[in-house]
Amino acid sequence: MHKRMNNDELNPAHLSELTQDIDRILITEVEINKRIMEIGTQISNDYQGKNPLMIGVLKGVLFFLADLLRSITIPVEVDFLAVSSYSAEARNKGVVRLVKDLDTPIQDRHVLFVEDVVDTGLTLNYLLKNLNMRNPASIQVCTLFKKEKHRLISLPLKYVGFELPDRFVVGYGLDFREKYRNLPFVGLLKPYVLAREREGY
Ligand code: IMP
Repeated sequence: MHKRMNNDELNPAHLSELTQDIDRILITEVEINKRIMEIGTQISNDYQGKNPLMIGVLKGVLFFLADLLRSITIPVEVDFLAVSSYSAEARNKGVVRLVKDLDTPIQDRHVLFVEDVVDTGLTLNYLLKNLNMRNPASIQVCTLFKKEKHRLISLPLKYVGFELPDRFVVGYGLDFREKYRNLPFVGLLKPYVLAREREGY
């Protein structure tokens, strides 16, 4: 599944400043789309007649939520939360600052919480506690990616796209310093990119 980046495989439109920093593609656009179609079918079956409210956390979930929504064949509603990028200290305490709250009340609604990646689980845990206090009829989690190595809190993840290795990845919504979100695949950065950041370039 892990592929070394080969320029011949890329759409010329993607041969750019962005792709030159990518070392390997881990999950291709085709693989992502196929898995999202499968999850969409499952959600459409599970939530028949329930008019679920799908809640995405900005910004990483942008592409996943947009593609997932189009693969779902039952009526759904959508809302967003945004959280601030937190300091390492705050993150270790599991504290997340909400910078945008929901527009919709969720009391008695069937909520499907949509995440890009669950790593330690601290962000998700904080947000689920917050949403649970608002008395929804149910809450389930759908995440495109999960990593297991650093999980600090065990959380029920009902729908999972892919398990990732214990590496920092970019693309398909995931960023490094706000860059690389718009790559259509998920990949690893070349080591010099991470080193360059550390040296303050
Ligand atoms: P957690 O609180 O450790 O579970 O972190 C979840 C958040 O960390 C995600 O919503 C992402 O914003 C970010 N994150 C975790 N792993 C990666 C990665 O490999 N690339 C980009 N962002 C990541």
